[in-house]
Amino acid sequence: MLTPTLWGPAGQALVFQLGVGAGDTVLDACCGAGASAVPAAMAVGPTGRVHGVDLSDDLLERGRLVAETRALTNIDFVCADVTLWEAPSDVPEAGYDALAISYGVFFLPDMDAAFSRLVGLVRPGGRVGVTVWRADAMSDLRDAVFEVAARHSPEFAERAPQYDRSPLRRIDTSTALETWLAAAGTHSVEVRTLSNLIPATEDLCWALVAGTGWRMALSGLDAGQVDSVKQDLAETITARGIHTVDATTLFGTATVRRPPPPM
Ligand SMILES: C[S@@+](CC[C@H](N)C(=O)[O-])C[C@H]1O[C@@H](n2cnc3c(N)ncnc32)[C@H](O)[C@@H]1O
Repeated sequence: MLTPTLWGPAGQALVFQLGVGAGDTVLDACCGAGASAVPAAMAVGPTGRVHGVDLSDDLLERGRLVAETRALTNIDFVCADVTLWEAPSDVPEAGYDALAISYGVFFLPDMDAAFSRLVGLVRPGGRVGVTVWRADAMSDLRDAVFEVAARHSPEFAERAPQYDRSPLRRIDTSTALETWLAAAGTHSVEVRTLSNLIPATEDLCWALVAGTGWRMALSGLDAGQVDSVKQDLAETITARGIHTVDATTLFGTATVRRPPPPM
C-alpha cells in the first residue's frame, strides 16, 4: 500500500532528477524493495547495472520478485550494510555513475561520514541524490503514533524522546540539504520539493506504522497490545481531525567534484 502512494513516486522522481541514462552503473543505497532501484534498472537498460543494497532481506526479496516480473536482469539486490559497501568488479574503476538514497541516509550511523564515503564510490562528474522528508512532514501523524504507543508501552515512553534527535532534523529544509550536499564534495546542487498529501485512511496510517521506522514503537508489545494500539490510534486520528498525511519530500541531487589537478 505504501509503494504506490509513497515510495514508488519518490523513487521514480529521484531517478528522473538524477538523470540516470542508458549504460550507467548505479548504486542504490538503502534500496528496500527497490522503489528507486527498479526505475533505475529500467533507465540504465541492458548495458547498465544497478546494485541495490539493504539490510532487510525481506524487502530485498520483494525487489527481486518485482525485477523478475519485469524481466530485469541488470539489477542485483544485495543484503549488506551499505556503510561497509565496496564497489564490486563490474563497476568501472573510476566508480559508479550515480548514487541514489531514497529515505535512507538519515538511518545511517554517523550520517555525514557514511554519506561522504558513499559519495567517494561515485566517479568525479557522477551524480548523487537523496530524498528526505521535509520538516514537519508526517508530524501530525507521528505525534499521534508516538503518544498512543507511549500510552501502551512504558518502555517506548522512555525511548521516544531520542527519536526527536534523528539526524534527519539537520537536513529537512531545502537550504540545509543544499549546504549538506555541497559539504560532501559536490557541486551543482539542486533541491526540489515533491508535494504529496495523501488521504489519511485508517489502512494508510497503519501501513505507515507497520512499514516504516515507526514500527519500533511497537517493539516488545504482544499481538493483543498491538491491536489496542491500532484501535487507539484510529480513535486519536479521528479525534484530532487528521485527514491528510503530509508526505512532502525534498529531492537533493548534485554532481561529484573532480579532484584538483596535481601540483
Ligand atoms: C524507509 S526505508 C526506504 C527504502 C527504499 N529506499 C524506498 O524508498 O522504498 C529505509 C531503508 O534503509 C535500510 N537501511 C538502514 N540502514 C542501513 C544500512 N546501514 N545498510 C543498508 N540498508 C540500511 C533499511 O533496511 C530500510 O529498508
